[in-house]
Amino acid sequence: MNLSELRVDGARLQSTIEESARIGKTENNGLIRCAATDEDKIGRDLLVKWYRECGCEITIDEMGNIFAKRPGKNPKLGAVMTGSHFDTQRPGGRFDGILGVLGALEVMRVISENNIQLERDLIIVDWTNEEGGWFSPACMGSGVWVGNHTKEWAYARKDRDGVTVFGEELERIGYKGSFPCSHKEWDIYAAFELHIEQGPQLYNEKIQIGAPKGILCLHWYDIWLEGTANQVGPTPMIGRNDALLAFSEMNIVVNKVAHQMGNMVGTVGEIQNYPNSRNIIPDAVHFTVDIRSWDDAHAVKAWEMMKKEFEVIAERRGCPIRTEETWKVAHAPFDKGLWDRVVETSEELGYSCKRMVSGAGHDMSEVNQVTRGAMIFVPSINGRSHVEVEDTPYEDCEHGANVLLHCILKTANEA
Ligand code: GLV
Ligand code: MN
Ligand code: MN
Repeated sequence: MNLSELRVDGARLQSTIEESARIGKTENNGLIRCAATDEDKIGRDLLVKWYRECGCEITIDEMGNIFAKRPGKNPKLGAVMTGSHFDTQRPGGRFDGILGVLGALEVMRVISENNIQLERDLIIVDWTNEEGGWFSPACMGSGVWVGNHTKEWAYARKDRDGVTVFGEELERIGYKGSFPCSHKEWDIYAAFELHIEQGPQLYNEKIQIGAPKGILCLHWYDIWLEGTANQVGPTPMIGRNDALLAFSEMNIVVNKVAHQMGNMVGTVGEIQNYPNSRNIIPDAVHFTVDIRSWDDAHAVKAWEMMKKEFEVIAERRGCPIRTEETWKVAHAPFDKGLWDRVVETSEELGYSCKRMVSGAGHDMSEVNQVTRGAMIFVPSINGRSHVEVEDTPYEDCEHGANVLLHCILKTANEA
């Protein structure tokens, strides 16, 4: 068989994505399928069934990461790994992460039905809790696998409402496996992740494939403010300790510093206000800050500037402040050889391709720390993602999966 002529089945990939999009479907055609929830379990069960139909060997590790392996001719050579995440934002779309898992499944199906014997093992991975929107932080499964967190720390994380505990929920849905969660248990030669761009560049420039040189660093902080609750009517404006008002000034600081520093983005995306009543002065606020840049030191400097200003505001408003660094993943420069392989493979297949940088975080931010990694991007319509209207033309999904297929065929047959 002439491997260079092989292509994925675009119609099958589409129907697989559509079937996945029924699990956790929202009224607006988006998805809510957060890690370690009932919807996650249904999704995982379906994935495992699909992997088994391809004859894959399944391993579920202590963090619920699912690995589906097709053994190669020479198991002593390191494996080629591909995949992404099947969980979503709350609410999110039907492509973020999912395309990387189901694109990998489509590649596995093509390889399996053509009885292709690769030199190296091929492994599809579904990483647990990439999004971190319900249980923070993001990239939890891959972060433990790489060794950046202990599994005990991850198990103890509480959901956004502070009610359920991650480890207990993972066990409840039947996906707290027994296999050690560590990259040291695996010999990985190279890793590829197919993903939607989640930004506007490819769509606006009408380019079919994006080849990121790497991923920005991601720094997550949690901030708690304490105020003094009181009846809003009789309490004079002067002398209040309004935690929400202090937060409002801090939100402006995050935006201002990100603008002033440049080459970075800074966002407050989550806030809880207590007791959240229109006629009570707020006495507690929790909020988050997300900072991203290609330059890790630049991002740290921005946080230091923000924190200094937060402390001045907190003092002036009489609202004690506590901050915590929740997650910090360094910027991830990809392997030059694999990056070039994505570009060359796209060109061989006749797709337009652009070298770029990933602003979105991915499990590859973690995985790239212990092996050689690269990613393949396809356009996001209007650059929208982490929203229910997130969309990518199925034709583009097919192109991305073809690039993934050929990157894998080349890499998995390397001696
Ligand atoms: C991952 O979803 C991110 O926050 O970029
Ligand atoms: Mn993703
Ligand atoms: Mn995401």
